[in-house]
Amino acid sequence: MSQAKKIEPLVQFEMVNLTLGGPTNQVKILQSVNLNILNNTKVSIVGSSGSGKTSLLLLIGGLEKATSGRIKVNGQDLSTLSEDSLASFRRDTIGIIFQSFHLIPTMTALENVAIPLELAGNMNSFPMAELELSHVGLENRLAHYPSELSGGEQQRVAIARALAPKPKLILADEPTGNLDGETGSQIVDLLFSRADECQSTLIFVTHDNGLAEQAEHMIQLHDGKIQADSNG
Ligand SMILES: Nc1ncnc2c1ncn2[C@@H]1O[C@H](COP(=O)(O)OP(=O)(O)OP(=O)(O)O)[C@@H](O)[C@H]1O
Ligand SMILES: [Mg+2]
Repeated sequence: MSQAKKIEPLVQFEMVNLTLGGPTNQVKILQSVNLNILNNTKVSIVGSSGSGKTSLLLLIGGLEKATSGRIKVNGQDLSTLSEDSLASFRRDTIGIIFQSFHLIPTMTALENVAIPLELAGNMNSFPMAELELSHVGLENRLAHYPSELSGGEQQRVAIARALAPKPKLILADEPTGNLDGETGSQIVDLLFSRADECQSTLIFVTHDNGLAEQAEHMIQLHDGKIQADSNG
């Protein structure tokens, strides 16, 4: 493998624009975004409400298609992938964590982590899920339903679910937004250490500047444009 290949960023945006809405009510969501995110780094995205943070994560995760420009993730140009290939790209490469946890209420903590692994064809899903839950300190909560867990515990289940397939890239949209300050800061510490242990790159959105500054790479959005990029 050539040297140039080895240092290729995990995520690359070249002049990316995202425009949504119909012909009469077009909204420019993201404009002329250029971005390089290196493998095995922690990246925070900040910016006021409506600045485009969630939209940026959706583009990186292939959940939204750019209107123009080029997005490469893990060496693949996302615009060239069919819907099926995009779905496998997401399954194989990306783990997603949301502000509101998004756990399935009728499944236990263990099932919430194991079932997605099983659906992805993993033969060892329950033991893997149990191990992953022990990594986030929930070995005594396996049979609890989400409603029987605290907010911080629910987010730890969501982290275990996202990390169990050992994705190259973890996308977290305000993972601490529904938690108090102290629990939020514990969750970020846990995300950082699990990302290190799994050798995953972590990109997270936060409104908390203190948490954002813990990342080695900070990106600030304003009105759909990059206002500041500590690696830019
Ligand atoms: N499907 C859509 N159609 C039209 N406009 C949209 C659509 N989705 C989002 N927007 C607009 O795009 C802009 C950016 O939204 P986005 O959700 O990315 O912001 P955000 O920075 O994540 O905000 P918040 O901090 O409130 O979560 C907003 O002005 C929003 O109204
Ligand atoms: Mg958002």
